[in-house]
Amino acid sequence: MIREWTLDTHLSQYFYNIMKVLAILYRGGEAAQQEPRLLGTVENQLGIREWLESQGHEYIVSDSKEGPDSDFQKHIVDAEVLITTPFHPGYLTADLFEKAKNLKICITAGVGSDHIDLNAAVKKNVQVLEVSGSNVVSVAEHVVMSILLLVRNFVPAHEMIERGDWQVSDIARNAFDLEGKVVGTIGAGRIGYRVLQRLVPFDTKELLYYDYAALPEAAAKAVNARRVEDLKEFVSQCDVVTVNCPLHEGTKGLVNAELLKHFKKGAWLVNTARGAICDKDAVAAALKSGQINGYAGDVWNVQPAPKDHVWRTAKNPLGAGNGMVPHYSGTTLDAQARYAAGTKNILDHYLNGTNQEPQNVIVGVGKYESKAYGQR
Ligand code: NAI
Repeated sequence: MIREWTLDTHLSQYFYNIMKVLAILYRGGEAAQQEPRLLGTVENQLGIREWLESQGHEYIVSDSKEGPDSDFQKHIVDAEVLITTPFHPGYLTADLFEKAKNLKICITAGVGSDHIDLNAAVKKNVQVLEVSGSNVVSVAEHVVMSILLLVRNFVPAHEMIERGDWQVSDIARNAFDLEGKVVGTIGAGRIGYRVLQRLVPFDTKELLYYDYAALPEAAAKAVNARRVEDLKEFVSQCDVVTVNCPLHEGTKGLVNAELLKHFKKGAWLVNTARGAICDKDAVAAALKSGQINGYAGDVWNVQPAPKDHVWRTAKNPLGAGNGMVPHYSGTTLDAQARYAAGTKNILDHYLNGTNQEPQNVIVGVGKYESKAYGQR
């Protein structure tokens, strides 16, 4: 599917305002051939090839993203539009920004643009937009599922059944109810708040949040959530901590060995935000020692995660407490329909020079527009 750069395309870009659009997506393989609703794949191309080509634009789609010979690095030098997804992130570093001479806009098909060096985007006057809200329900549901599967010790129970064994006490010795527990979210934005909303019927003891932006009073009241402004104090009060903030300078390694010491012994930790918010080795060590009873989520500090990544197999002292999966919570088929449509909508505004929907703009021309990527 990769087209070679030719003098012809260069001339047509120059004379007819023809754009080169580069999309780095994950390879869907057989599943994507059988399931056209897997829109965010190399095979199904976000469903926008015909639309772009009918307007004369060039559309290059690939999953090759690592190293100088990758399609990503080869085509970024003259692409005007870059589309990426957090599920298979094309890491646009400050160095690559220097090479991306023609780049005007980066679109994240999904939510979370930390794989783009946002400070470099500001410096280079490249806009960064994401399809805000497109998969926030998908993730919030996954968070609630992950909390339940850890607290109720589900994964080893299912594995026991598949093995042909039956020893109820081995599971029940570490299974609890969510009712009566204290659950707190780091980040109470679209996802964090939806998690709190979904937890209301579980009759938890308390719902807490830690965020530099306070929830509007009515919103906090609606879910009966209490804000705790000191992070150590916050984690020390939670039976369950769920991470729902973006990855930026202020959150990289936020959950580290020092913070984990302040967790309640045996607490559960769920991270569907970004892998690098939690220190990989510190989390694995805390799980191994029993300082935390479980770790679940779908995000990894490098994606795809290497085969020997410690989070694949980390366990608590009872040989359980691992709810890790590949990065898919925000890429359900429902979510893909929404972020594919949202990507097209952002492109359409860009092509027509009309105003982007403000909630989608992370970096505008030369400045941050979103307050979610750190306090500045
Ligand atoms: P949002 O922008 O609506 O909310 C983020 C919240 O985090 C804001 O309230 C912000 O003030 C807060 N925040 C930022 N820095 C913080 C800090 N240092 N401490 C505490 N709170 C802080 O974003 P949304 O839609 O809720 O998404 C959050 C993140 O979830 C995304 O940035 C992305 O990394 C991740 N995500 C993961 C997906 C998946 O498939 N696993 C899919 C979608 C999003």
